[in-house]
Amino acid sequence: MENLNLVSLPHFVSVENLSVEEVEALINRAEYFKNGGATPNLTEPICITNMFFEDSSRTHTSFEMAERKLGLTVIPFDPAHSSVNKGETLYDTSLIMEAVGVNIEVIRHSQNEYYQNLIRPQNHQHLDIGIINAGDGSGQHPSQCLLDMMTIHEHFKQFKGLKVAIVGDITNSRVAKSNMELLHRLGAEVYFSGPEYWYSKEFDKYGKYEELDKLIPEMDVMMLLRVQHERHSDDPNEKNFDAKAYHEKYGINKGRYKALKPNAIIMHPGPINHDVELSADLVESDKCMFTRQMQNGVFMRMAMIEAVLRGRKLGGLK
Ligand code: NCD
Repeated sequence: MENLNLVSLPHFVSVENLSVEEVEALINRAEYFKNGGATPNLTEPICITNMFFEDSSRTHTSFEMAERKLGLTVIPFDPAHSSVNKGETLYDTSLIMEAVGVNIEVIRHSQNEYYQNLIRPQNHQHLDIGIINAGDGSGQHPSQCLLDMMTIHEHFKQFKGLKVAIVGDITNSRVAKSNMELLHRLGAEVYFSGPEYWYSKEFDKYGKYEELDKLIPEMDVMMLLRVQHERHSDDPNEKNFDAKAYHEKYGINKGRYKALKPNAIIMHPGPINHDVELSADLVESDKCMFTRQMQNGVFMRMAMIEAVLRGRKLGGLK
């Protein structure tokens, strides 16, 4: 059924400012698109560009697929061959995009909250372009978070009382930051596990840290996080990292898989380090939602882009 309660936002940079009703409306809208629901009729061509300053396979492709399904014109941008390499700032790059007629930028960048300067320009005359955050450093990852919520909702139909464990390299994970906050607000019971040195007391307000084997038979959702070696340059634990030892202590292997509740699911935002967070032969197992998450990502990103089109009254949408 078409969802009449549509979200409208000038930018989409975080899940923290979304109300529970807006989250539910986005999930409904993404499910509507997934079920073949019609996309809105745009009254003028809308241009969007994907600016990925950090590596990406699924998020980038998924945004582009969503953009094309919505009938947007995708303007290519390749950071590796851009004037950023001549020292041009992200702000000035955005001025170019606005000047040439791009309406929305989808950006992934290593700097936390890179978007603040773009959505609230300070000491600058003016910049007025929609920003969708495709991941900022170890900050937020709203589209991954919302596609995860969609995947959980599809399986369990609700969030209240669900037991969700977030396991692994939590301090470095923007997926974890977005998900713990929103899951908590949606009424799920959040738990954490993994190496204590990748856990921080600041997460205590959202959930409880426990030993992995205590959580395994009790959880509805095991949300595994990639060990993010590229963010460990200042991490003293990196030089002693042993993939086999990590897998034994904090990974899901066949034994732990068997001990999960019958209806439990495993999630991973990808990319997966095989035989580290998850045994290679469990990646496509029944309980593992890895590919489902990627499929849902396209539809959730359609809903998010549409929300920004509405928020900016683009293509005649309101
Ligand atoms: C995540 C990311 O980039 O934050 N990947 C993704 O977008 N699916 C998680 C990760 O890289 O580990």
